[in-house]
Amino acid sequence: MLLFTVRCVKLVLAVNLIGCTGVAQDAVKTQPIYDANPSHLWNRVHAALLCRVGPDGKTYGDDRLEPLLWMHSEHLLRGKSFENAITVLDEFDRESGESLIGAPLKRAILQRDLWLVANWLTQKPDTEEKQRLQKALAKVIRRLALSSEQIKKLPDNYAMAVAAKAASNRFDAAQPERSYLPTQLFDAEGPWVCISRGDGLIAPQHLREDSSSPFTNSVFLVLLKLPPGRAATLEFLQRLAAFQQPYLVANPDEKSRRSIPVLPNATLPNWPKGTEVALVRRAMLIDSEEKIVASPITESIQLRVMRTDTPIPSSAMFEIAKARGNWAFFEFQFRRTDLLGPSPSGLRDVSADRDFKTGFMSHPSDGFDEPPQPSKPFPLGSQPFENIRASCIGCHQLPGLYSFNSLAGFQFGRLQISRDKTAREIGPFQFKAASIPEVEAAAVRWKETQASWKQVDASVNQ
Ligand code: HEC
Repeated sequence: MLLFTVRCVKLVLAVNLIGCTGVAQDAVKTQPIYDANPSHLWNRVHAALLCRVGPDGKTYGDDRLEPLLWMHSEHLLRGKSFENAITVLDEFDRESGESLIGAPLKRAILQRDLWLVANWLTQKPDTEEKQRLQKALAKVIRRLALSSEQIKKLPDNYAMAVAAKAASNRFDAAQPERSYLPTQLFDAEGPWVCISRGDGLIAPQHLREDSSSPFTNSVFLVLLKLPPGRAATLEFLQRLAAFQQPYLVANPDEKSRRSIPVLPNATLPNWPKGTEVALVRRAMLIDSEEKIVASPITESIQLRVMRTDTPIPSSAMFEIAKARGNWAFFEFQFRRTDLLGPSPSGLRDVSADRDFKTGFMSHPSDGFDEPPQPSKPFPLGSQPFENIRASCIGCHQLPGLYSFNSLAGFQFGRLQISRDKTAREIGPFQFKAASIPEVEAAAVRWKETQASWKQVDASVNQ
């Protein structure tokens, strides 16, 4: 696991600044999110907690998925950013800021954002500043809370995106980068099957409560669709669950055995060309009774479509150049300005955007805190500056099931094995079809037991 992390951190460092929507706002000026008046209290809370000025003097982060905060960030914990945050949060509490805006969706989004900051904060050393910020955030989080019924009734922005035909509803094999958003992802009897892992939480890597994943207030859904549809997908899951042999076998090729001692077992049930798999992230919220509730707000959808059939496993499979054609990759994210704007729309295709890497498997350092260096212009620094789509291949290079990281992380397993020369046994996993409410309930139960939630909960309850 440690090596897996090291590998991922290295990878992420290599693609450090992938994808920021790229467009920096002029210094200090940010888009008004909650009200047309930029100095509206809610806009000021948003700006103080979410927006950051880079060493280049430009403002970033005013409408991105996650706060621009990393493990080593000192931002919000000292100097002017700390004072601003405390001042505006205290004002919100004193003036009952929640009464200024009643729209449940706006309350939900602001609470979500503040809870992400609070979750990051739980990993920081216990200082007086941390405690003050924690308390100030908790008061506003509580003031913004909706009832659980209101949360359940929040709009389904994925459905909005489908209805608005935000992207093509058919994958075009001839134009694999053409924006594609599948319909019926959440239909209980539709072609997509929502998967649960009998032995635990789905998407456990994304939900690791450690320094590389500070933003874990989400429900993750893994959905699978084999080309013939639901029956074929269910049948595949049964075959996979029944597969009792080792997932890894010795590499029969002498030449490559030194660097790649084991390969995935060729007899594993596999996926045909055209198979699609999605990782959906939906927001959890804190309700008016201080309970965690799964909301219908889709924060992001990551999608892979298989462009080739799966070959017999070989060492050649691990060559990244060859891997480029295996998959089509897409990522959709919500944007506050789309959702809360005058003509609301649900999700935006960000696959071709550039962004900072935050959250899942991100590097610990905070480039915003570093002094400007003429030789390394911000935000590029010395890192390659790739788009979101280009980043996926680093963790999903293998064809077919061998890229199904929920199953095994075959490519990471290989690295682990080549270091310590012992084959790690993986599988068999008991994946099965599950309803979305079941997966949501499991994720909420998991979150309730986490140290981060206990800290946030304690401060919300004070
Ligand atoms: C740093 C490594 C990493 C990167 C980069 C990455 N993923 Fe993943 N992805 C994972 C892991 C690990 C899982 C398994 C889920 C878990 O355990 O959290 C996963 C799961 C998924 C799944 C669910 C099916 C599966 O393979 O388990 C999809 C779909 C997916 N990722 C798509 C993408 C797309 C699209 C991109 C690029 C926008 C991307 N991923 C970038 C590591 C990564």
